[in-house]
Amino acid sequence: MMRIAHISDLHFGTHLPRLAEALSTEIHRMDPTLVALSGDLTQHARAREFAAAAEFIRMLPEPLLVVPGNHDLPGWRPWRRFIHPWRAWRRHISEELESSVSGEDFIAIGVKTARRWGLHLDWSRGRINLNQLGRVVRLASAAKPDAMRILVAHHPFLLSDAMRRRGLVGRAQDVLGGLRSARIDLILGGHLHQSDAGTTHGIVVAQAGTAISRRRKGEPNAFNRIEASRQRIRIDAMRWDGTRFSVAQRWEFERTTMGWTPGRSGSSLP
Ligand SMILES: [Fe+2]
Ligand SMILES: [Fe+2]
Repeated sequence: MMRIAHISDLHFGTHLPRLAEALSTEIHRMDPTLVALSGDLTQHARAREFAAAAEFIRMLPEPLLVVPGNHDLPGWRPWRRFIHPWRAWRRHISEELESSVSGEDFIAIGVKTARRWGLHLDWSRGRINLNQLGRVVRLASAAKPDAMRILVAHHPFLLSDAMRRRGLVGRAQDVLGGLRSARIDLILGGHLHQSDAGTTHGIVVAQAGTAISRRRKGEPNAFNRIEASRQRIRIDAMRWDGTRFSVAQRWEFERTTMGWTPGRSGSSLP
């Protein structure tokens, strides 16, 4: 059984220091096997925001896997955005934009879906390409047969009806079959600032809310506490209730011969 602290959309620069402290305490308390941070560490990709994010990350237990989000790209500074888009990221967070970590019974693979530009008006939307899929397949294939295979990416691979207009990560439909063949079990994402979970192509997809920022979109601050075994994945949306993070919603999934399927999906807790 592994425990994952899945946090996202910290948006340092618009963060709430009290929540940052409470989140760190809560993560240490759950003694996670893995901390996954699915992007948007900053609000405007400024050096001081990255420095604050890096200081926060250093307080968290390891192993930790982090991927960038669209807010981690310089927004309206064209020189930086197009010529040195990841300079501050590399300086403060990691030399790598796509890393992976593995443990006794899991592998977690980070994918950078944030893009400098796109052939559409909304550059906040992300994309995954076939080279990135190839890397995921290679790493996942090299993992132990019974390892839990986890993908971490900022943009969503699954949308609720309410979020349909936000759009899936670009080329999601082209790569999901490949991710299934690579036996990916779980995809962790953010971007929407809404906790959610479901399945697509036999893969469990969990979205985390914004953990500590003021950029809430109709939901209190939240992160996901996940327990995963070979047969079962349980996702608890841990929402801030004004004094602490507590379980507000739970999703359960079971492994079948058809891949992962919902158990008692969406069961809201009192
Ligand atoms: Fe965000
Ligand atoms: Fe985002």
